[in-house]
Amino acid sequence: MARLASGKASRTARITAAMRHRHLLGGARPLVFEDRFAYLFLDLPSAMAAMPTPLLDRAIGRLFGPVRGMEGEVLARSRHVEEALAPRLQAGLDQVIVLGAGFDTTALQHADSDCRFFEVDHPATQAVKRAALARRPALGGNIAFVPVDFARDDLARALLAAGFDPARPALVSWLGVTMYLEQRVTVSTLTTLRRILAPGSLVIFDAYPRREETVPEEQPMFAAARALTATQGEPMIGAFDSPAFARAIRGKGWRIADRMEGDAMRERWFRHQPAILWPPRSVLFYTLEAV
Ligand SMILES: C[S@@+](CC[C@H](N)C(=O)[O-])C[C@H]1O[C@@H](n2cnc3c(N)ncnc32)[C@H](O)[C@@H]1O
Repeated sequence: MARLASGKASRTARITAAMRHRHLLGGARPLVFEDRFAYLFLDLPSAMAAMPTPLLDRAIGRLFGPVRGMEGEVLARSRHVEEALAPRLQAGLDQVIVLGAGFDTTALQHADSDCRFFEVDHPATQAVKRAALARRPALGGNIAFVPVDFARDDLARALLAAGFDPARPALVSWLGVTMYLEQRVTVSTLTTLRRILAPGSLVIFDAYPRREETVPEEQPMFAAARALTATQGEPMIGAFDSPAFARAIRGKGWRIADRMEGDAMRERWFRHQPAILWPPRSVLFYTLEAV
């Protein structure tokens, strides 16, 4: 990925943080996901884009109308992880890995738990996050920052060096990343992770399907999203091939515990939301269990 490979912070991470903040400010109640901390990581342009004013709503609709379902997907995936995480934290889970964390705020939302959050991302994006958190000393003490490029570095070794305990179960949140990776990198990252994940650990990730698995009327939406992220220097080169994925992880210590599609997300979380925000039907949420 051009922008990240050249050592710059992720723009798409800021865009997704702005989407969550925008929903907090002006989304229909009940909210799909309540992110109380995303604002900490916005710069001026993204903070302005997050303002839910009627004028801006119209401008965003005109410019990005076809991709607002992606905004719904961003909210849904965070909600999905939160629903898996909250009861496990109650039950004593004490290690979470957030892969491609960007400006994810799960650790901040659970600052009062005894859980350690291992946040993995490129160092440039982490530097921006750390600088913002340095201004809020009460926040972020539960985060271990682990700088890694999935395509190049040994993720397992980096996590162990940061204090991750392979003997205890963990939950891995991997949101908004596989669409930026070749599928072989997604699979090899899972293979590497499995080396250090205790049985019972979960990995939750979202994926945008390849064209053949995309509902025809949604193909323009995905094409627009790919074009938009390419202009940010972070092209979505991942196009998820479900049968190939199932074959690739077979016999490698994983069980596909759940595979959710957009219709189920709409039904579960979007009944009170305007249709323009409904996640694409073709989008996928996977939950893998280490066995
Ligand atoms: C769209 S953002 C998603 C951020 C966050 N997970 C969220 O849901 O808001 C994608 C994130 O993945 C990170 N990322 C993409 N490719 C990566 C790679 N090869 N290695 C490490 N991080 C990567 C980017 O730096 C960025 O923070």
